Amino acid sequence: MARSLLGNPVNRVDGPVKVTGQARYAADNNPPDLCHGYLLTSTIANGMVLSMDLGAAEQSGGVIAIYTPDNRLPLHGEPPFLPNVLGERRRPLSDHEVRYHGQIIGVVVADTFEQARDAAALIRVAYRELPPNSSFEENLDRGEQPPFVGLPLGVPVDIGVASIDDALAASQVTQATTYRHPPRHHNAMEPHSAVAVWKGDELTIYSGTQGPAAHAEELAVALAVDKTKVHVVSPHVGGGFGGKAFTWAPTLLAAAAARSLGRPVKIVTTREQLYTVTGHRSAVVQTMTLGAREDGTLNAIKHHSFTEALVEDPGVRTTLSFYATPNLQLRLLCPPGMNLPTPTILRAPGDETGSFALECAMDELAIRLQMDPIDLRLKNYLRTSLQTGLPYSSKHLDECYRVGAARFGWSRRRAAPRSVSDGDWLVGMGMASAVLAAGRAATTVRVLFRADGTAAVATATADLGTGMWTILAMMGAESLGIPVDRIRPSIGDSRLPVGPGSAPYGAIGSAATATVMPAVRDAADNAIAALIQHGVTHRRSPLRGLSVEQVRYRDGKLSGGGTTIGFGELLTTTRTREHGATTTNEVKESTEYVFGSYAAHFCEVRVNRFTGEALLSRMTTVVDAGTILNEKTARNQITGGVIFGIGPALFEGGHVEASTGRIDNANLADYLIPVNTDVPDIDVVFLDHPDPNVSPVGARGLGELGTIGSAAAVVNAVCNATGKRIRDLPITPDKLFE
Ligand code: MOS
Repeated sequence: MARSLLGNPVNRVDGPVKVTGQARYAADNNPPDLCHGYLLTSTIANGMVLSMDLGAAEQSGGVIAIYTPDNRLPLHGEPPFLPNVLGERRRPLSDHEVRYHGQIIGVVVADTFEQARDAAALIRVAYRELPPNSSFEENLDRGEQPPFVGLPLGVPVDIGVASIDDALAASQVTQATTYRHPPRHHNAMEPHSAVAVWKGDELTIYSGTQGPAAHAEELAVALAVDKTKVHVVSPHVGGGFGGKAFTWAPTLLAAAAARSLGRPVKIVTTREQLYTVTGHRSAVVQTMTLGAREDGTLNAIKHHSFTEALVEDPGVRTTLSFYATPNLQLRLLCPPGMNLPTPTILRAPGDETGSFALECAMDELAIRLQMDPIDLRLKNYLRTSLQTGLPYSSKHLDECYRVGAARFGWSRRRAAPRSVSDGDWLVGMGMASAVLAAGRAATTVRVLFRADGTAAVATATADLGTGMWTILAMMGAESLGIPVDRIRPSIGDSRLPVGPGSAPYGAIGSAATATVMPAVRDAADNAIAALIQHGVTHRRSPLRGLSVEQVRYRDGKLSGGGTTIGFGELLTTTRTREHGATTTNEVKESTEYVFGSYAAHFCEVRVNRFTGEALLSRMTTVVDAGTILNEKTARNQITGGVIFGIGPALFEGGHVEASTGRIDNANLADYLIPVNTDVPDIDVVFLDHPDPNVSPVGARGLGELGTIGSAAAVVNAVCNATGKRIRDLPITPDKLFE
């Protein structure tokens, strides 16, 4: 069934409302009597708030209330409010301690945003200031194995011999290299925003989120109300990238302030505040030690990763899923108590940083062994899980290499650096692989036939720009045999059906498509069965009296006993507005396979030999992710993902001023992200291998796949062009000067 969707590039069903400005994002909601909260943030990184002089602010025009650690908004419990939430570790305003620069120390509420902002600027804060411990580099010798936090992130892994160092020493060739990845920030176009409206003890909150149901649950715990009393509305999300997976302080404070004031409150986080109050990716330093035979066969990998705080995996898990090796050691180290904002997950958590280190190290090893980088990868091709020994299901990464090499013209690459030039430009090619663990969870979907001839397909997931609205409509259409324009998809609302287990977290881990689509199919089958039952039993139905076996559903119509009737007409006749089923699909962990999605990236770069400027001229990415449901939105995801990896390769990185702990480029003028002129057309190719083991739909995740390895492909191309191996990102021109 899913096969007929293939090669069918359907336009986004939410496209028209977005391009005409009708799509409502959280901050677009302006209920009557609305007032505006503005966050006040600390200007020191370590110490205490001793006192706050609010006099001038309180006298300032339009000010309604000011909340501080001395005048707290009631919030309850201690984060994480739900298990596995990787966010702020304490409630906002809960004490006077300042742990990082840019921490929330107050909220000013006024009639307008401008009044609140201007009043906040009048608050005088007296601090007891301590020297900040904010320099990541100065903490590199303080790494400790972090405590286990309930997620399998910090757990050390040892595979093979007792001593990894003996295994490395026994290898014919060893190579130890250290890679630095800067902190990076989500920088979603839509800032974290919330509009909170209480009616009695019920909260409606408009807040951009990747998981509406989990968001509602977190809020309910923090506000000490029953979770049925919190209604999260978030139909459109202007980018999440992991930053909107969990509930951050601005939303908690909007909800609490609105309750306190008995008025709706809106809080919109400013761009600069987003850098400190809604999570970021930690800086990561990784040492990758490879031991191999002279023919390229890996014998040992030792991967040690050093990160600011254990909130996301800093890359070591990635190394479990790329290459076969008999010996492996993974370690993760954090220094305790740094004065830095709280990290969280960010697109391809762990995998972006880990693949950068591993895929650069493999390129360095290939150069050393005088092997083609693709041959080295094929030599160490991983077919079974290093941990469980189970085979990878439907893995065609080798075909990705082959197809990509042919399309890209890899055979024209010269192994020796600086072999190809074009005037002042040195030209080089590089490649890298991507492996993404392909998860899938159980979820709940409701499918309802309606008397007006449309069908509703609903589940509490989210569309962060990923195309979920569209593939939900497509899958509904496909499953019910009716056109896409007769499907009414619903997502982005905590009151919609929600799955068990991890599904309330919504659109995370590139798993939403693989999770939701098989459930749509199950729900559609059950809705059809319910419709038939309705048809043979309802007293007004022309099919009444037939057995269910005598009635067939096809393309929106029921037929039986010589009668054929469309579902709209049937429901109109029976005076039934809607009829269908809500279904939770079961997902059992496979005992036979492990699942991944795969890609090979190819990059051509041109580096100006005088200015050190690196320009990307061509990129090709070949993807093996099982069934591709919508070629158009899938291509969009991969293209966006590749660009997301180009970011830290050439441009991105938060810069923390060590003496103050302040991020001194917390804006989109100084924190560079790739723009159109920086990015060539990215040639994305999908292999067509539906994965029958993952689900009957055959689709595996791909949202984060493009990001994995793409930075390494750029670094490797720069090295091929210039002979310079850059191991600390981003590759700015100063690192490439002659
Ligand atoms: Mo993604 S970092 O799991 O939203």
